[in-house]
Amino acid sequence: MKKVLITGAAGFIGFHLCKALLEKDTEIIGLDNINDYYDVNLKFARLNELGIYKEDAKKFNKNVQSDKYSNFTFVRSNLEDEKIISEFFKREKFDVVCNLAAQAGVRYSIDNPGIYVQSNLVGFLNVLEGCRHTKVKHLIYASSSSVYGQNEKVPFSVVDNVDHPISLYAATKKSNELMAYTYSHLYNIPTTGLRFFTVYGPWGRPDMAMFLFTKAILEGKSIDVFNRGEMKRDFTYIDDIIAGVELVMKESPLSKTSTVSHKILNIGNGSPESLDNFIMAIEKSLNKKAVRNLLPMQPGDVPRTWADTKELESLGYSSKTSIDEGVENFVKWYKKFYEI
Ligand SMILES: NC(=O)c1ccc[n+]([C@@H]2O[C@H](COP(=O)([O-])OP(=O)(O)OC[C@H]3O[C@@H](n4cnc5c(N)ncnc54)[C@H](O)[C@@H]3O)[C@@H](O)[C@H]2O)c1
Repeated sequence: MKKVLITGAAGFIGFHLCKALLEKDTEIIGLDNINDYYDVNLKFARLNELGIYKEDAKKFNKNVQSDKYSNFTFVRSNLEDEKIISEFFKREKFDVVCNLAAQAGVRYSIDNPGIYVQSNLVGFLNVLEGCRHTKVKHLIYASSSSVYGQNEKVPFSVVDNVDHPISLYAATKKSNELMAYTYSHLYNIPTTGLRFFTVYGPWGRPDMAMFLFTKAILEGKSIDVFNRGEMKRDFTYIDDIIAGVELVMKESPLSKTSTVSHKILNIGNGSPESLDNFIMAIEKSLNKKAVRNLLPMQPGDVPRTWADTKELESLGYSSKTSIDEGVENFVKWYKKFYEI
């Protein structure tokens, strides 16, 4: 049985990936520091779904066996903790590592740059070192569509120049790609970076538009609509993202054009939607009108994203979920979870 480490397991994407893989023949260790960037109760509730209870999950650096899945254990650890992470890798000996833990969020990085350097750069270095010293067969890690900055050429392709990030968050993600390339080159570790495009769906992040808008509309509060709604995002439903990550996990990242086993892939919907249409889908699903507070563009935000997903499609990927269907699923989950 393959042994896989998923970091960020209490987070939105990490939780869904664990859930999907646990149904298969995989032994998984989930790691997360359960930081309070957003409501920790949502993180504990996700872990609870995986059979890990809050009282056990609270303890640091202790493997907790799932009550629901015999092939799942969880450990609360900080990726920045060099000694702990190094010993953890040596003890567990993973075949595959999927690094989804990071300090996410573009806007938060404007006021809190230090946290991004710690989690996304120091933490990622410790993951790379762990992979190097234990001969991990494939490291898959989360990058982001934000690396494209204000790219004007659409759709965004992995061959486009990405030397102009406009937030520190984006700069750390681009740095991860460079660091991974170096480790692939020096130590022959196969690595694949996934540039995720605005992921949404059930159990989603409370700092993201889908969640913020749904909450505010239900509470009768106004919603902040940046760039007066004239932004486009390649909104991608969580199940499509997970199906894509699973495909990548099956592949070896050997490149056709280079001797270095390092690959970057876009993972998105391939069909951008205006923010206004997205809000309309939420209004339709809630059967309630939003009160729009139209605001200018925020620092760090990009006007549009649009993924060229041809390379991932060649592995069998296709984005299947429409905005209406995805939004409906989120709203159903939200109402059930918050008992509305
Ligand atoms: N959700 C999106 O739309 C999106 C888009 C582009 C990229 N990404 C990237 O995908 C990954 C997963 O995103 P998500 O939406 O699930 O975010 P999330 O915040 O829900 O999950 C990340 C998890 O990582 C954990 N974490 C953060 N720093 C850590 C550290 N130093 N040590 C251990 N755990 C740590 C957090 O507690 C959190 O539970 C991130 O790397 C993010 O930057 C997400």
